[in-house]
Amino acid sequence: MADNKNQGGFNQLPEIHNKSLRGPQHLSEHADFITSQPSEIKSIKDGKAAAAEGPKDKLEYDPQYILQVRDLKKHFPIKDGMLGRVSGYVKAVDGVTFNLKRGTTMGLVGESGCGKTTTGRAILRLSGEKTAGDVLFNGKEVYDLTKKELHDARTKMQIIFQDPFSSLSPRMPVGEIIGEAVREHNLVPKAEFNDYIDDIMDKCGLQPFHKDRYPHEFSGGQRQRICIARALALNPEFVVCDEPVSALDVSIQAQIINLLEDRQEQFGLTYLFISHDLSVVEHISDTVGVMYLGNLVEYGETEDIFRNPLHPYTKALFSAIPVPDPTVKMKRIVLEGSIPSPANPPEGCKFHTRCAQCMERCKHEVPVQREIEPGHFVVCHLFDDAAEA
Ligand SMILES: Nc1ncnc2c1ncn2[C@@H]1O[C@H](COP(=O)(O)OP(=O)(O)O)[C@@H](O)[C@H]1O
Ligand code: SF4
Ligand SMILES: [Mg+2]
Repeated sequence: MADNKNQGGFNQLPEIHNKSLRGPQHLSEHADFITSQPSEIKSIKDGKAAAAEGPKDKLEYDPQYILQVRDLKKHFPIKDGMLGRVSGYVKAVDGVTFNLKRGTTMGLVGESGCGKTTTGRAILRLSGEKTAGDVLFNGKEVYDLTKKELHDARTKMQIIFQDPFSSLSPRMPVGEIIGEAVREHNLVPKAEFNDYIDDIMDKCGLQPFHKDRYPHEFSGGQRQRICIARALALNPEFVVCDEPVSALDVSIQAQIINLLEDRQEQFGLTYLFISHDLSVVEHISDTVGVMYLGNLVEYGETEDIFRNPLHPYTKALFSAIPVPDPTVKMKRIVLEGSIPSPANPPEGCKFHTRCAQCMERCKHEVPVQREIEPGHFVVCHLFDDAAEA
């Protein structure tokens, strides 16, 4: 079947595994979150700042987290004219902070251009140097690793892209594609190499006897399986899945999601799952972060975010999710205007130019993050008074 762009909601997928497969852990154990201003986090629950540390303190390693990201910024210079003078910066990621527990999945959602891919790539140190912030992977600052250490760490941190075709070399047979980095990193003895590749292909739903074929001989779904097999062959601990099913036909999406979930169960993988498809994210994620113009504006356990979205942007985004019950009337919130440029973001709350609930202070004051219910954080002035009450 040809793989088309997803036209429908994920609710239509009949064959996705039940999430309970992944064990009874309570979601609140899965991840923890703070956004751009760790020193200013407010908790409604106890009325006190929930984190006193400023961003300049050394980020302490907490072994329960595979990944600790604090105030991460990635700005791209804008070069003008013949001399290539820097005239400004695209603030693609402009202060993102969260902690991710092992074996869990964090969904990252937001409109196109809000900085999801840049966040994923910056965590993996795939886009040169960061602009600011900390990224601890298993307690080690990713940006302090030497070239050799980074090369070794690459096996533990992998990425799967949206477009499986362009990320596969057209001139290499798939067995070579899957095994290339395994060989480079000397992960298995030579004598076991072939069996190892056969096994990983089998685990990813590929026929091992197809390993001499080339990428163009496979369908879109199979090509994404090849990408997953290539990533998992390195025995990673953490995988950034950047829109891994967005380019696939709806029925194929379910198979790929099931594959990712099964391998997570089997290998204890941790995923950062980037998607603009909220139904997919609701299904696969333990926690969800909502991004707008380079910032996380809301974060929490998946159920809390979907049941009780708080930020006006999250509400608008989620109001577009199709409801399968025909008796339920959808109240879609249509956002005015387009997303502003990350090269020149609005002052105060970056969302104020599109927010129907915008107040005077929103235009000048940057809102701080507040914990509205346990583990559920929002960055919006509407919740200032609630915190002070
Ligand atoms: N290498 C780059 N150089 C300059 N701007 C970039 C680069 N990569 C991404 N951007 C810009 O950063 C912003 C965020 O992009 P991206 O992270 O790809 O968003 P998303 O994945 O949410 O669609 C966009 O405005 C995009 O044009
Ligand atoms: S801070 Fe103000 S402008 Fe921003 S989302 Fe909240 S109400 Fe809207
Ligand atoms: Mg992207």
